[in-house]
Amino acid sequence: MKKILSVIMAIMLLQGVARAQVAHSTIAVDAGTQDFQIDKNIYGQFAEHLGHLVYGGVWVGPGSDIPNVNGYRTDVLKALQQLQIPVLRWPGGCFADEYHWMDGIGPRAARPKMINTNWGGVTEDNSFGTHEFLELCGLLGAEPYISGNLGSGTVQELSQWVEYVNSDNVSPMTDARKKNGQEKAWGVKYWGVGNESWGCGGRMTPEYYANEARKFGTFMRSYGPHKPYRIAVGPNADDYNWTRVVMKEMGTSLDGLSLHYYTNGALTATDVTPAGWFDIMRKTLRMDELVRKHSAIMDEFDQFKHVSLCVDEWGTWYKVEPGTNPGFLYQQNTIRDALVAGTNLNIFNNHCDRVRMANIAQVVNVLQAMILTDGRKMVLTPTYHVFAMYRVHQNAMMLPVQVASRLYASGNENIPAVNASASIDSNGVMHISLCNIDPSAPSTVALRLDSFAPTGVTGEVLTAPAMNAHNTFEAPGAVKPVAFTGAKLTGKEIAVTLPPMAVVMLTVKGDVVLPPRAAVALRAPARGLAYKYYETADDVMPMFGKLTPASRGSVDGIVLPPGARDSFFAVEYEGFVSIPERGVYTFFTNSDDGTVLFVDGKLVVNNDGRHGPIERSGMVMLDKGYHAVKLLFFQAGGGVELSASIKGPHMEKQVIPPAMLVHESQP
Ligand code: AHR
Repeated sequence: MKKILSVIMAIMLLQGVARAQVAHSTIAVDAGTQDFQIDKNIYGQFAEHLGHLVYGGVWVGPGSDIPNVNGYRTDVLKALQQLQIPVLRWPGGCFADEYHWMDGIGPRAARPKMINTNWGGVTEDNSFGTHEFLELCGLLGAEPYISGNLGSGTVQELSQWVEYVNSDNVSPMTDARKKNGQEKAWGVKYWGVGNESWGCGGRMTPEYYANEARKFGTFMRSYGPHKPYRIAVGPNADDYNWTRVVMKEMGTSLDGLSLHYYTNGALTATDVTPAGWFDIMRKTLRMDELVRKHSAIMDEFDQFKHVSLCVDEWGTWYKVEPGTNPGFLYQQNTIRDALVAGTNLNIFNNHCDRVRMANIAQVVNVLQAMILTDGRKMVLTPTYHVFAMYRVHQNAMMLPVQVASRLYASGNENIPAVNASASIDSNGVMHISLCNIDPSAPSTVALRLDSFAPTGVTGEVLTAPAMNAHNTFEAPGAVKPVAFTGAKLTGKEIAVTLPPMAVVMLTVKGDVVLPPRAAVALRAPARGLAYKYYETADDVMPMFGKLTPASRGSVDGIVLPPGARDSFFAVEYEGFVSIPERGVYTFFTNSDDGTVLFVDGKLVVNNDGRHGPIERSGMVMLDKGYHAVKLLFFQAGGGVELSASIKGPHMEKQVIPPAMLVHESQP
């Protein structure tokens, strides 16, 4: 018996040795599935009138002895320009629902002062207002995202703000703008309809909020080409009821729904214990569950994901640095924050079908900042470096990753040690971002690349020797990215060794290898598309599978079927588009109300929602030959418009010619 036991133990030991030699974690990246683009706005930032963010952090005024460009600190400006910030949210936060924009225009000396009741009770002199913010966005190359005051402001006030910045017509608002030095409308696209209306924005119920948002939203008008992209107040963390009610009440009339979720820590940023590190990582990973569950509720009311989930406040929130004003939310930033940033950005990339904007809180001197300043001094944080490393994902096509990670344990709990996301850019270069959130053990990863023939791999790593390692004004380079040498390419696999607490960005060169596509053979092709016409009662895109057509037939080109009534109907068009040569094709739909266009079963143009005439487009790579097309259109009330266009390698943009469209005339 003893002998048998020792043999079993020897086998187990041998297995242990064998296990130690294989990778801890495996990751498969699929280059053959490129269905969704990573919206660059996922890499957005947030700038609230809070503490030393605006005043001292970004804006010192033109008379300051701190070097500046028109009042913006030169050092901060230069550092932020490097990050390629796609979108910047302003003026709050809680501040937004007490902000009266008219106090922040005109000669600075004459602007009224106010008390910033949310943040430290300090005097706000309004010297940084609409013009200063929009000039900053111009200098950064960032799209502005303005949060409107729905809590303590009026419908008229918000409506006039939109008119002031977006109209090129003649009106008292546009005259005032011109008098204040801005001749042309800025054309601000992104607008928040309030902020945290369930809390500091007015303590509303979701039902009450939805009514208010509908009312305020109605008077946020379009001016010429400038149509506001309205982002409604969404849930606080796991308030699923808020999402359900707002989506039920507002649905696809919205463009975006926000989500706020902070990773809270009880101690200061630099007071890091092993248990505290684990707790922050566990809370960070919860973002994945929140995004999944809110998205699933949104799907119930928005089948084609027209409404973006905008995570417009996220990041770490610790106890403030000792000796600083508690209302200023000033905290240090360590390698732990870098892991929080990398992990959240991986989550957003992987859910980019629904998450199309995110704004970390906040850009300078507040919460999980990119930059810290003190008087003339400035330092870049580890979080800054993560945003710089991840720039390559902006607007690239997301590649699905399957991660089987080893576990990282603390007490009785464990979480995956490794998380990842991947994308391929317009030059065909693949980027894979990997986080090893375990602070004390390396992670070996076997990385398999499907539908890709790699030719080389390089990388960058951000790591540190201590859990609370951070940059200071005295030692600004303590935590910074360096070249990564822990990746080895063999055939289609990359063996990676991630150091403990590390963010790694791999750059993989090579070619996408797709299996040849079987040619589509049509039995009895007939010109035009087949259609089914439905009479409806709702003002949203219907669930077509649940309806019975009122008529069916075929049309020559994408036109309304004969006998279509003026309102409340929907049409489903199906057939094939004949593609003359292999290449990337752009499809456009221009419709009033919504359209959704699929090519080969893939959603290419999402122009859903009840709206006036809007053109939207999408791109797809196509081989020569026939490709299945399906176009869904619905009309509620008001005007009706429908057209679809195509642009190809040797083809100017044009309405899809009827001769390019066929359908199967026999079932
Ligand atoms: O980012 C700080 C604050 O957190 C914001 O003002 C508010 O919206 C949230 O509660």
